[in-house]
Amino acid sequence: MQGFRILVLVLLIISTGAAYAYTIQTADKGAEQIELFGGKSGPVPFPHRLHQEVLPDCAVCHELFPQEAGAIEKLKASGDLKKKQIMNKHCTKCHKKLKKEGQKTGPTTCKSCHIKK
Ligand code: HEC
Ligand code: HEC
Ligand code: HEC
Repeated sequence: MQGFRILVLVLLIISTGAAYAYTIQTADKGAEQIELFGGKSGPVPFPHRLHQEVLPDCAVCHELFPQEAGAIEKLKASGDLKKKQIMNKHCTKCHKKLKKEGQKTGPTTCKSCHIKK
C-alpha cells in the first residue's frame, strides 16, 4: 500500500512536471514578429504579439519550448522535439480546431504559413 502511494505520487510529479517543463515569465514579451525556420518549405513568419493578445496564456506555447530566440531549433537539434512537431501538433492543430468551430483563426495550408524567398 505504501509502495502504491509513493508510485502515485511519483507519477503525479512526473505528469505535472511534463505539463510545465519550462518556467514561464510574463515580463519580457519578446519580439513582436518572429521568423521561424521552415526547412525546404521556406521560413514561417510568426506574429508573436498577435498570439499573445488572442491566447489566454504564455504557457499555451512556452510549456513546449523556452522563451528564448532559437529555442525550437535547439530542441530539434538535441532530439527533444521532432521536426515538424510544433507545426503539426501545435500551430496547425490549433488553427484547424478553431476553423472547425467557425472561429477566427490562422493559416492551415503549407503555402500560407511557409513563404518561399
Ligand atoms: C502561439 C505561441 C506563443 C505564445 C502564446 C507566446 N509565445 Fe513567446 N514565442 C513563441 C515562439 C514560436 C518563439 C520563438 C522560439 C524560437 O525562436 O524558436 C517565442 C519566443 C519568445 C521569447 C524569446 C525572445 C524572442 O522574441 O524570440 C520571449 C521572451 C517570449 N516568447 C515571451 C512570451 C511571453 C511573455 C508570452 C505570453 C505573454 C508568450 N511569449 C506567448 C511562441 C509563443
Ligand atoms: C500553421 C503554420 C504551418 C503550416 C500550415 C505548415 N507549416 Fe511547416 N512548419 C511550421 C513551423 C512553425 C515549423 C517549424 C517548427 C517545427 O518544425 O515544428 C515548420 C517546419 C516545417 C519543415 C521543416 C522541418 C525541419 O526541421 O526540417 C518542413 C519541411 C515543413 N514545415 C513543411 C510543411 C508542409 C509540407 C506543409 C503542408 C502540408 C506545412 N509545413 C504546413 C508552420 C507551418
Ligand atoms: C492555441 C491556438 C494557436 C496556436 C498554438 C497558434 N496559433 Fe496562430 N493563430 C491563432 C488565432 C486565434 C489566430 C487569429 C488571430 C486573429 O486574427 O485574431 C492565429 C493567426 C495566425 C496567423 C495569421 C495572422 C494574420 O495576420 O492574419 C499566422 C501566420 C499564425 N497564426 C501562425 C502561427 C504559427 C506559425 C504557430 C506556431 C508556432 C501558431 N500560429 C500557433 C491561434 C493559434
